Amino acid sequence: MVVQFGGVTAVDDATFSVEPATITGLIGPNGAGKTTCFNVISGLQRPTKGRVRFRDQDVTSLSVDGRARRGMGRTFQRLEAFGSLSVRDNVMVALDINRGLRGLFTNGRKDADALLERVGIASYAEERADSVPTGTARLLELARALACEPRLLLLDEPSSGLDEAETDDFGSLLQELAASGVAILMVEHDMDLVMAVCQELHVLDFGRIIASGTPAAIRQDRTVQEAYLGYSEEVVA
Ligand SMILES: Nc1ncnc2c1ncn2[C@@H]1O[C@H](COP(=O)(O)OP(=O)(O)O)[C@@H](O)[C@H]1O
Ligand SMILES: [Mg+2]
Repeated sequence: MVVQFGGVTAVDDATFSVEPATITGLIGPNGAGKTTCFNVISGLQRPTKGRVRFRDQDVTSLSVDGRARRGMGRTFQRLEAFGSLSVRDNVMVALDINRGLRGLFTNGRKDADALLERVGIASYAEERADSVPTGTARLLELARALACEPRLLLLDEPSSGLDEAETDDFGSLLQELAASGVAILMVEHDMDLVMAVCQELHVLDFGRIIASGTPAAIRQDRTVQEAYLGYSEEVVA
């Protein structure tokens, strides 16, 4: 895909694929074009050039909700929960919409609580979504995405705001989800997490993919070290 904003080329001919039951990382410095790629894949941004294929279909002209109905779920770098609703109600809304579309009976509250339990934030169920810590809000977005039973999960900087123990639990949860068949594409700056859970990495720099491969191969890659891994934590955070 190619994405231009006026004179700025945010994504410059980046092509990659994501497989079921696999965790793929999209990494690179700030401004590299990672979120823009997510917006193109999920349908929020029309590419200047290129196509998006999902489950053997060209979905480039489908709307965001058309893609969501086919099984695309995402979370946002800038949080997008319904702030005035409780944590539980945020998940119930997604459950109701998903099951309603499928004509299924739903026990929203019980299922919402099970999802909150699964991502580890059950104790926040009654809190307003805009009052919880950032890390909790990110997990809420994950629970809400899971409510729609995604086949592909796009996670934009999901671990920022989580402490070390929470990040470990989060990594295990991602591995469980992948083991159940979900394809996960993750933008993430926490290299320990990325290296621990991803099977495949793509490194973006100025909108271009400068390297692709396993975490071990990427760690050794000189170009990547110069472009990205050599940066201090403050610069890339
Ligand atoms: N809606 C937009 N309009 C204009 N420029 C944008 C827009 N979205 C992103 N950009 C620019 O595109 C580039 C890539 O941004 P982004 O995809 O957010 O990078 P990343 O997520 O890797 O930090 C940046 O130069 C950013 O300023
Ligand atoms: Mg971003």
